[in-house]
Amino acid sequence: MKIVAILLAAGQGKRFGEKKQFIKLKGEPLFQYSINTINKIDEITDVILVLPEEDIERIKIFSFKNIKKVIGGKERQDSVYNALQEISNADIVIVHDTARPFATEKMFLDGIKNIKKGFDGSVTAIPSKDTIKKVKENKVIETLKRDELYIIQTPQTFKFDILKKAHEKAKQENFLGTDDSSLVERIGGNITINEGSILNFKITTKEDLILAKCLLNKGPKKSLF
Ligand code: CTP
Ligand code: MG
Repeated sequence: MKIVAILLAAGQGKRFGEKKQFIKLKGEPLFQYSINTINKIDEITDVILVLPEEDIERIKIFSFKNIKKVIGGKERQDSVYNALQEISNADIVIVHDTARPFATEKMFLDGIKNIKKGFDGSVTAIPSKDTIKKVKENKVIETLKRDELYIIQTPQTFKFDILKKAHEKAKQENFLGTDDSSLVERIGGNITINEGSILNFKITTKEDLILAKCLLNKGPKKSLF
């Protein structure tokens, strides 16, 4: 069984103020954290690292896996699409944001397990602890049922054929989703969830980087989880 990981590092970091994937944390660039986790997972044999065109030549990677650099696109979805074009055959594809350095091996392995059970996709998720309301122009429209709401993270794991089909269709129809699962859902895919963590947050703003540094410096010695 061939399992490929697509690691996304082709964003511009507009909210952060610079390309956050290249910021060094404890001596290593942020994107390298995800590669280090993948290096520990035997089942994943191939990695595609998606990078901005202007950085692709200069970026040095440390990987035990067969790794390929691919040029990203304008939107995150375009970056995933470009990576999918480089995969000729695979059974399972995992999409992960390198802006989430604290994703665990277990999150990747649980996703793979769910696909082996027969699901088309598995997304890393945590139940919402907060009440979520729909608001338009500062007016509260609706209070959503909290026990039905989950915060969705990456890794997201899919059957390769289905993810590819979902991306082709979205491109044809000019549909832009906020995650890969939403593209698979709209073609009728059967998606389940695997357990995420509040510590698997996405570094989006400078505040998130402060949090990441605190965790790395002050977290329990052995593991954060
Ligand atoms: N990403 C990508 N290609 C893009 C946009 C985003 O590969 N065209 C990647 C980012 O590098 C990141 C992940 O997708 O690992 C999640 O995106 P996000 O947190 O939004 O990062 P940026 O797009 O870089 O940030 P911003 O939206 O603030 O510009
Ligand atoms: Mg973005």
